[in-house]
Amino acid sequence: EQEQAAYKARIKQLLQEKNAVLVAHYYTDPEIQALAEETGGCVSDSLEMARFGANHTADTLIVAGVKFMGETAKILTPNKTVLMPTLEATCSLDIGCPIEEFSAFCDAHPERTVVVYANTSAAVKARADWVVTSSIALDIVDHLDAEGETILWGPDKHLGAYIQKQTGADMIMWQGACVVHDEFKTKALEDLKKVYPEAAILVHPESPAPVVELADAVGSTSQLIKASQEMPNETFIVATDRGIFYKMQQLSPEKHFIEAPTAGSGATCRSCAHCPWMAMNGLVAIAEALEHGGKAHEIQVDPALAEKAMKPLQRMLNFKN
Ligand code: 13P
Ligand code: SF4
Repeated sequence: EQEQAAYKARIKQLLQEKNAVLVAHYYTDPEIQALAEETGGCVSDSLEMARFGANHTADTLIVAGVKFMGETAKILTPNKTVLMPTLEATCSLDIGCPIEEFSAFCDAHPERTVVVYANTSAAVKARADWVVTSSIALDIVDHLDAEGETILWGPDKHLGAYIQKQTGADMIMWQGACVVHDEFKTKALEDLKKVYPEAAILVHPESPAPVVELADAVGSTSQLIKASQEMPNETFIVATDRGIFYKMQQLSPEKHFIEAPTAGSGATCRSCAHCPWMAMNGLVAIAEALEHGGKAHEIQVDPALAEKAMKPLQRMLNFKN
């Protein structure tokens, strides 16, 4: 505890000295989210992280999340220094969508509009017509479908299937998945719902279709948080990374939030639903990044690639329904 307090104090001092701001995702650990709030940074979903960083006047952004979030920040604000607690914090969707293969997939379907999830490398974004996050994916695909466009979607197959079902758009998909959300289990969720019949089920659409079908609300992290505030239920079963409980509980202290079951839930694993890469964003690593920067912490995106990736990203930020 004492050590934690010392790190927090050090980070606060460094943020001031470097004119830096902490931008954190809802899946980071509670102390990181609290620190971002205390220091005038932001805690949000991946879309709002991008907007916040792009609009902020700080010289340095320290992004607590995973690498694609840091890269997005760098692409949108090339003149800022963008630091991350560790550059090792990747994402299974990014890993599962290498540019060479994805590009070949696109080349095989030149008539299709390429829409990629933000959870991808800068190179994959540079190959896309649109970048989307889960907050805005449905609206953008709906819009493209209404314009008569056919879509090549990547990389999350579950989010893609959900969007296809909702919009009826003509989509072909890359077959990627999130290691965290892919683990939620339908049967165990049905059993848990029997124990808590009054509970509302909240599901992030990176989860498999049978889990999404059991949901009372489906959405991005920010949309699920909003649902937890607005729905009248007192109990919620939540199928997404457990990092989200910090904000849900903060906004509704009287409500009861329960983790949706994963394959390893129970005796072997109490909290499987936590992204191993989000978990790398600790206080020590943040202090280290601010203090030393350099190769292990500073995001660099090839400028030519960044220029290309900027267009589909900017298109997303400018999109109004
Ligand atoms: P959101 O855009 O909903 O914050 O999700 C990002 C993410 O990585 C989900 O796993
Ligand atoms: Fe990627 Fe899943 Fe982690 Fe989100 S939770 S960063 S989609 S691996």
